[in-house]
Amino acid sequence: MINVDISNVWGKLSLPDLLASEKEVFDAHMTLTQGSGEGNDFLGWLDLPTEKETDEIRRIRAAAEKIRSNSDVFVVIGIGGSYLGPRAAIELLQGPNHNMGKGKGNPQIYYAGNTLSTRHWNELCNLLEGKDFSIAIISKSGTTTEPAIATRALRWLLERKYGTEGAKERTYAITDPEKGALRQMATEEGWETFVIPPNVGGRYSVLTAVGLLPMAVAGIDPMEVMAGAAQAKKDYDIRSFENPVWLYAAIRNLLYRQGKCIEIMESFEPGYRMMGGWWQQLFGESEGKDGTGIFPVTAEFTPDLHSLGQMIQQGERNIFETMIRFDAPEKKLVIGTDLKNLDGLNYLTGKTLDFVDEKAYLGTIAAHVDGGVPVITMDMGELNAAKLGEMFYFFELACGVSAYMLDVNPFNQPGVEFYKRNMFQLLGKPGYEA
Ligand code: PA5
Repeated sequence: MINVDISNVWGKLSLPDLLASEKEVFDAHMTLTQGSGEGNDFLGWLDLPTEKETDEIRRIRAAAEKIRSNSDVFVVIGIGGSYLGPRAAIELLQGPNHNMGKGKGNPQIYYAGNTLSTRHWNELCNLLEGKDFSIAIISKSGTTTEPAIATRALRWLLERKYGTEGAKERTYAITDPEKGALRQMATEEGWETFVIPPNVGGRYSVLTAVGLLPMAVAGIDPMEVMAGAAQAKKDYDIRSFENPVWLYAAIRNLLYRQGKCIEIMESFEPGYRMMGGWWQQLFGESEGKDGTGIFPVTAEFTPDLHSLGQMIQQGERNIFETMIRFDAPEKKLVIGTDLKNLDGLNYLTGKTLDFVDEKAYLGTIAAHVDGGVPVITMDMGELNAAKLGEMFYFFELACGVSAYMLDVNPFNQPGVEFYKRNMFQLLGKPGYEA
């Protein structure tokens, strides 16, 4: 289980505060699992984890093998919940530079439809030049502007390179089983499709083909991810503060009520940045509504200690931190000696980089707590595919419980429509003239 340590929040909260919230957390957890709250038609994600390989997962494996063998590059088209999960998973397990040196047999993975930047598009076109590639279009609605534009453009590139039949063999759609423009397009074009169940919202969809197909193409075993999630489903069902989900949901809400309205999630792993982005979307879209919500921000330490560190240490005291740790890897860097010692580092000779990292971590917590910032720490243990599945399920569950504690519907995102409406009006989309 993930070890949630709250010993560094006690300056701001007391044990009686925590215990007094027990009934509230219990009620929120029950509301979620019994499906009695707002948004209860979007609870399908609770039951996605499986120990048995389903037909869908078998097809995901087969498609991934085909893509791995015939593509140098796999382009994942999607935005928000239809993009962040797979990218988070792949970068956390394989590092932000995972594409280096890859090609047919183990394709590079790039993303499209997550931006409207022409520079990004031009860069992608350069990357695809002379390469064999396949695409996955991920969109539950099928009408989201960014991925829809990228889909048109990439389909054209595919068809120009491989012809209509060849392009068809290299196009995969992940969408609603029946509804939506992408479903219709896939049926008419004869693409292989995978399903986002109707009762699973975008940001809770990483344990469907949305996350599992790109992961499988990257060589991550979907069943190992699912095994971790299935175990998490059992482990995190405890109805007491023995449950780390309860601790996390309760503490962040209690801190919020004390004016700590910003949560910064940090990790000392560069590969965690996109996982932070996934978490940020999950909590941001689930909780930020009705004039309430904890603002989720993600940072990477130690780099951001040299940018945000000053603000965290001495800025407005409206923040708390959640720090993520993983076990150190087996392969070590041992710091060497230097006869001149001009950098003054010889006192570290023979020590490992992990040793320094650990001291930076401990030193940072102590400094921030001294500066009046409560710090929740999460010790994740070993970083592997099962852990990834566990983390996804853990945070989704914690988010559902926490949002119900905040008294908001965790499964809608009405505010996202506002920018779209203005954009459509400016673009002259039919129906948006007024
Ligand atoms: O979490 C969500 O529901 C959103 O972030 C969606 O995933 C995102 O807007 C993309 O929507 P769609 O999958 O319909 O293209």
